Amino acid sequence: MNSNPPAQAYQFDLKHAVTKNRFVGFWRMMTGFRWLYFGAIATLGLASLFSMLSFLLIRYFVDEALQQPDLHNVLPYVALGFVGLALLQGAFSFFSGRLTAQTAEGVALRLRNYMFDHIQHLTFTYHDKMQTGELIQRCTSDVDTIRRFFSEQAIGVGRIIILFVINFGALLSLHVGLALVSILVLPPIIIASLFFFRRVSKAWEAYQEQDAKLSTTLQENLSGVRVVKAFARQEYERNKFEGDNYEKFRRGRNFMLMHSGFWPITDIICGAQILGGYTLAAFLVMDGTITIGTYLAYAGLLMNIINPIRNLGRLIVHMSTGLVSFDRVSEIMREAREPLTEGQHQPTGGLRGEVVFSNVSFEYEPDTPVLENISFTVKPGQTVALLGSTGSGKTSVVSLLPRFYDYKSGSITIDGVELRDYPRKYLRGQIGVVEQEPFLFSRTIRENITYGVGREVSDDEVIAAAQAAAVHDVIMTFPDGYNTLVGERGVTLSGGQKQRVVLARTLLKDPRILILDDATSSVDAETEDSIRGALLRLMQGRTSFVIAHRIQTVMHADLILVFDKGHIVQRGTHDELLAQGGMYRRVYELQSRIEDELEKEIASVGLPL
Ligand code: CTP
Ligand code: MG
Repeated sequence: MNSNPPAQAYQFDLKHAVTKNRFVGFWRMMTGFRWLYFGAIATLGLASLFSMLSFLLIRYFVDEALQQPDLHNVLPYVALGFVGLALLQGAFSFFSGRLTAQTAEGVALRLRNYMFDHIQHLTFTYHDKMQTGELIQRCTSDVDTIRRFFSEQAIGVGRIIILFVINFGALLSLHVGLALVSILVLPPIIIASLFFFRRVSKAWEAYQEQDAKLSTTLQENLSGVRVVKAFARQEYERNKFEGDNYEKFRRGRNFMLMHSGFWPITDIICGAQILGGYTLAAFLVMDGTITIGTYLAYAGLLMNIINPIRNLGRLIVHMSTGLVSFDRVSEIMREAREPLTEGQHQPTGGLRGEVVFSNVSFEYEPDTPVLENISFTVKPGQTVALLGSTGSGKTSVVSLLPRFYDYKSGSITIDGVELRDYPRKYLRGQIGVVEQEPFLFSRTIRENITYGVGREVSDDEVIAAAQAAAVHDVIMTFPDGYNTLVGERGVTLSGGQKQRVVLARTLLKDPRILILDDATSSVDAETEDSIRGALLRLMQGRTSFVIAHRIQTVMHADLILVFDKGHIVQRGTHDELLAQGGMYRRVYELQSRIEDELEKEIASVGLPL
C-alpha cells in the first residue's frame, strides 16, 4: 500500500472546473492526466489495429496461402503471424487498461481530496443548511460516478472512434458497397440513444436524490439513536425508513428498466444489421464478386464495427449519469469558501482583548432578526456574563467574535479595530471557544486535548491542563490513560467529562479571548465548584464571555448582560442588578429558593452534604 500520496493531489485547485459546459468541466478536471488519457486511447488504437490485421491475415490465408503448392513452407509464417498479432493485441490492451485506471482513479483521488478540503472551508451558514447525508452522498457516490465516467465513457469515446475508423477503413478496402451498407445502423442507434439520454438523466438524478435522502435518514438516526430509543419511536422510524427505501428501490428499478428497455432495441437493430450484412456478402460470394477469404475477413470486421456502434448507444446513455453527478458535485464546488486569511490587521503581539459592540444587529435568515442594536464594552481582562432564556441570542452574540457569522449592521471592534479587518484565521487563533455542545473526535484523549494547539506539547503540559479542568483523575482510570481512544472503538465519555476535556483543550490553547458557552451545563454543582477554581484561573488576564444559567456561576462577573428576544434588557454588576429588580432579581430569588429548599430536604433525609 502506498502511504505517500502525490503532493499535487492536495494542492490542485479544481475551482476552474466548474463551468456551464459540463464537457469542458470534465476536460479541466483532467489537467495533469491528459497525456495518460491519450496514451490509453493510443494503446487501445494499436490493440484494435492488430485485431483488424488478424482478420486481413485470415483473408490472405484462405485466398492465397491455401492456393499455393508449397503451403507447408508458408504455413509456419502465417501461424507465427496470428500468434504475434494476438500477443501484440493483448499487450497493448493491457497497457491501455493500466493507463485508463491511472487516469480515472487519479482524477477521482484528486476530486475527493479537493471536495473534502473545500467542504471544510465552507461557511457556517452553508453547513447549517446542508444535510450531512447529502454531502456524504456527493463526496462518495457522485464522485464514484464521475470516476466511472472517466474509466468507461471518456475512454470509451476514444475507443469507439478508433475502432470505427480502423475497421471501417479495412472494410472499405475489402468492398466499398459492402462497407457502406454495414454502417446503415449508425443513424437509428444515435437517434434511439439520444431519445433515451434525457430520460435516463432524469431517472438517474431522481435516484441519486433519493439515495441522498436515505443517507441523511440513516446518518440522522444513527446520531440520534438515543432519542429514538428514549421515545420508543423505533416503529415510526422504521416505517419512515422503509418508505424512503422503497422509493429508492422504485427509482432504481425505474432507472434499470429504462436501461433494459434500451438494450434490446439496440441489440435488435444491430442483429438485423449483422444478418443483412452477412446475407449480402454471401450473395456477393456466389456472384463471384468477392472471394471466400474476403467473406471471412468481412464477417470478423463487421463484428468489430457493430460492437463499437452498439456501445456508442450505451455510452451516450451512461454518460448521462456522469453528467448528472458532475452537476451535483459542482453545486458544492461552486459555493464560495470562507476566506480565512483575508483582512490586513494582524498584530504580532496578540490581542489585548478590548471588545466593543455598538448597535450590532444580526440575522441568520433575511428578515428574521436574531439580535437587534446590541451595544456594550468590555475592557481587557474583564469577564462578561450573558444570561437569558433559551433562544434569546446568547450563542449568536459570541459566535460573531470569531467571525463564524458576519453581522448585518453596527460595529464590533477588538482593540479599536473593526472585526472585519482581522483575518478569520488570526481571530480564531486568539479566541478560545468551549462550545455549548462539546465535540470530541474518535481519536485518543491526548489528541483531543492537544487538538489545534499548533505546536509540540509535552506530556506535563497536557496533564497540567487536564488537572486544571478536573479531568485528570478520570482519565487515569481508563485502561490506556491519555492514549485511550474516545468513541466507537474506545471509552464513552459522559457529557460532563467531554466538557472538561474540551476545557483542557482550551486551557492549552491559551487564547486571549475566552468564550465559555454553557461550559458547565453538563456538570453537577459539586463538580462545577471543583472546576470553578480552574475556570477562574483560565479567565484570569483574558477577556472572557461566560454564558450560564446559574447565577452562582456568573455573579462575580464585571458585567452581566441579560438577554431577551435578541435585546439586552438589563445590564450591570450583580449588586446593581439585584438593586434594579426585574428579570435578574426574579431569577436570582427563584434559584436561591430552590437551592435552599434542596439543602433542607437533603438535610432532613440525612444524606451527607
Ligand atoms: N438560530 C438560527 N440559526 C442558527 C442558530 C440559531 O436561526 N444557526 C436562531 C434560533 O432559532 C434562535 C435564535 O437564533 O431563535 C437565537 O439562538 P441562540 O443564539 O443560539 O440562542 P441562545 O440564547 O444561545 O439559546 P440557548 O440558551 O438555548 O443556548
Ligand atoms: Mg446557546
